[in-house]
Amino acid sequence: MTDMTSSSQVARTLGTDGRSMELKGTVGFSSLPDQLVNKSVTKGFDFNILCVGETAVGKSTLIDSLFKSNFDDAPVSHKQPQVSLTRHTYNLKESNVNLRLTVVSTTGFGDQINKENSSKPIVEYIDNQFETYLQEELKIKRNLMETHDTRIHVCLYFVSPTGHSLKSLDLISMKELDKKVNIIPIIAKADTVSRPELLQFKKKIMEELGENGLRIYTFPTDDATVADTNNKMNEQIPFAVVGSREEIVAGGQRVRARKYPWGVVEVENETHCDFVKLREMMIRTNMEDLREKTHSIHYELYRRNKLTAMGFSDTSADNKPVSLQETYEQKRSEHLREMQTREERMRQMFVQKVKEKESQLKSSEQKLHDEFERMRKQHTDEKKQLDDKRVSLEDEINDFNKRKAQLQAHRAQAELAKSNAAATIRSPRK
Ligand code: GTP
Ligand code: MG
Repeated sequence: MTDMTSSSQVARTLGTDGRSMELKGTVGFSSLPDQLVNKSVTKGFDFNILCVGETAVGKSTLIDSLFKSNFDDAPVSHKQPQVSLTRHTYNLKESNVNLRLTVVSTTGFGDQINKENSSKPIVEYIDNQFETYLQEELKIKRNLMETHDTRIHVCLYFVSPTGHSLKSLDLISMKELDKKVNIIPIIAKADTVSRPELLQFKKKIMEELGENGLRIYTFPTDDATVADTNNKMNEQIPFAVVGSREEIVAGGQRVRARKYPWGVVEVENETHCDFVKLREMMIRTNMEDLREKTHSIHYELYRRNKLTAMGFSDTSADNKPVSLQETYEQKRSEHLREMQTREERMRQMFVQKVKEKESQLKSSEQKLHDEFERMRKQHTDEKKQLDDKRVSLEDEINDFNKRKAQLQAHRAQAELAKSNAAATIRSPRK
């Protein structure tokens, strides 16, 4: 359909720019739509649903009911520390059409005391899928036809069946999501709310969405073949749905239903709930519109914001058109200039650092030198003191030796005198 749209745009452009010509016979290009259909059927389709809703609100059961399958999506506990997402991909086939269905579901949504970051992982997931697609698109050797398109095409927002009003978590989360994805709000477990309460609840939800400026997906009314139905269905939003994995036999057919002591709620009975309306609108009538709007509105917005943030623009500052090449060249020279400035700044920083280090080293060297001088002087002083002491000691020794010699001379004289005296005493009798 995306291809068909762009083809018709080209045709219109040719119609205005070129000359209108009447053909004189069949050429064969009227088979172009059939060729496109055949090509698309051979390739198959990707369709990705995001289910956002509180734990055990009935997300998995509804998806099973919508696709008449049992995808075995295990229930999760209420004790998740934070919101996270599970993702399952299934290859389905109806007649000769292949559908690669991916169901992404929240776990632990609304279970935390602090609900501030509840929608963050959801928004991140949606953006990551856009980013993957954008990266593929920007590759030189791109392969968009073969790439698994994981962008979310529709977000089924499960409103808990309180019968009263939306919770602030619903309003805040939808506000975060409405610019990124096609939101279809649905009232889950509608069999738990009475009919008059349900009508009141639907009205209240729509009022609250309007008051808070929330943009939900509306079924397109520009195609005359579906305009009537889509118009009527837009008035029925939010659909009040019931899901079930149990089957009963009704009217000779096995149908999904929920059994109660007081009766049976048939999932596909339009007097019991809006399940069929949801399935018809989302899958049978508007699946391609959901895919197309995802590409042309939500992905386009993401792409534009991303490229603008990267510095790309279609017009210059003086509002003149600029080509991608020009923007690239401009960005390249800006980048080079910035690199040079950074290099120069780093060089200056390096020189400054070297200078600082040099002056630090010089000051350390000076300190060492001073210390050396001080010690050398101290050493010289001490040596001089020691020399003086040595000289004074030598003088003392000399003095002492002199006195010792004098003393010995005195003592020798005294000895001599004594021995002379003794000899004199002995000799007088002769
Ligand atoms: P988690 O993945 O664990 O968050 O739960 P979920 O949102 O996928 O819910 P699930 O489909 O596992 O259903 C939880 C319970 O609700 C099951 O017991 C279902 O049988 C029941 N349930 C599902 N849909 C409905 C419904 O429409 N009405 C009622 N009354 N019960 C439902
Ligand atoms: Mg589940």
